[in-house]
Amino acid sequence: MTNLLKGNLTEKNYRIKDWAKGYESQENEYNYWIDEVEGVIPRELQGTLFRNGPGLLEINGQKIGHPFDGDGMVSAITFNQGRAHFKNRYVRTEGYLKEQEAGRILYRGFGTQKSGGWLANIFDTKFKNAANTNVIYWGSKLWAMWEGGEPHQLVPDTLATIGKDNLDGLLKSNQPFSAHPKIIDNTFINFGVKGITSQTLTIFELDDRGNKLKEHSHPLTGFAFLHDMLVTSNYYIFIQHPFKVEGLPFLLGFKTIEECFNFNPKQPTKIIVVSRHENHDLEILETESFCGFHHGNAWEKEGKIYLESICLSSFPKKKQAELDFNQVNFDDFPKGELWQFELNLSQKTVTREKIEERGCDFPSVHPHLTGKKHRYLYMNVNRTPTENGPLQAVMKLDKESGEKQLWSATPREFSGEPVFVPDPNGVEEDDGWLLSMVYDAAKHRSYLIILDAQDITQEVAKLYLKHHVPHGFHGNWTSKVFI
Ligand SMILES: [Fe+2]
Repeated sequence: MTNLLKGNLTEKNYRIKDWAKGYESQENEYNYWIDEVEGVIPRELQGTLFRNGPGLLEINGQKIGHPFDGDGMVSAITFNQGRAHFKNRYVRTEGYLKEQEAGRILYRGFGTQKSGGWLANIFDTKFKNAANTNVIYWGSKLWAMWEGGEPHQLVPDTLATIGKDNLDGLLKSNQPFSAHPKIIDNTFINFGVKGITSQTLTIFELDDRGNKLKEHSHPLTGFAFLHDMLVTSNYYIFIQHPFKVEGLPFLLGFKTIEECFNFNPKQPTKIIVVSRHENHDLEILETESFCGFHHGNAWEKEGKIYLESICLSSFPKKKQAELDFNQVNFDDFPKGELWQFELNLSQKTVTREKIEERGCDFPSVHPHLTGKKHRYLYMNVNRTPTENGPLQAVMKLDKESGEKQLWSATPREFSGEPVFVPDPNGVEEDDGWLLSMVYDAAKHRSYLIILDAQDITQEVAKLYLKHHVPHGFHGNWTSKVFI
């Protein structure tokens, strides 16, 4: 493995307080040219990186219970002729505006209760659309996405909120539209799961202008928490991990939905394969029990389907409900590992093999290879090879040669999802750059690192921001320059 690990690497070299500090709210909205740059920004890197994540982790001093519930703060780093510009702005969702006006938490969330005990929460099942999970530019629209409801449309130049977008009537009110769309052959594919006790999966395909190509729905059996999806030329693929939800304590206001989520290691994981053609036939295959959120890529070869997924032995849940989400002990949490699956639809069999044991998340491949066989996969990983911990490093995996490259931040730094940006003049699959937002706890500031995707041990440039950006979730690149 090619290695670039900095700092004194011991088995556990991070401090949980440093990681927790990365969850301090960022209340300001900025707009400036980044003038503190180490290295040289490639002139071919022309376009905009949009990022999304929870920006507010409390409302007027009242702490929210889980980062999933933090108000979406979208950042844009725009690259133009060797310079970079930063701006960030809150998505003005209905919930954000109402809570800011009231100065207190008004909504329950995945891990958040309203203050006032169970009486204040009883029978309230309305979550805030936090618009905090992903942001993508598609069909001349910029969408801040959250999996439980409609996307919010933003002005790409200013990040000003236009409002909820129902996609010209495609989405009914509060129709879930997940935060993990996939783009294959210039077609935008997304899904939504509606309901808790009785669930329906709806799949959408949009053309490159955002117009509907397909929409079809399927009833689901058992409780499905589908966060991500996979796609190939002929199939949509979903992984249904075995969960059971105790509805009553949530309904009666005693517990958050997070506390009512129970992973069942004795039940198999289901892999739902839906045809993209004609009747959209659905098949379910079963494999060993595992948990997870994110998937890598999927492809077809010789009549079989292959896919990668980050697998965890159980659901990462706080051991003590009263602890703040940022006081967790990573040793108590299961670590994500990258596995590859082979699905044989005619024989209804699934086999899987572990590809990477190091704790990992946020896998990605060259955007043009979604649904096709790829050679390189990029992801966030732990600094330590076997123990669990916060994500502090980036790995490139060469699936053909087995070579692994590693770039690591320093022990007091924490790296975000690496986004692969293809070099417009590139020929090879890994001609391009990886962009990752890194939080530096020592300075309580963030920087964007640009790595050479051919050799990720090579730091191309570091773009230092004047402030921190709280740990985020997902984002996307567009070659359009929005300033
Ligand atoms: Fe995600």
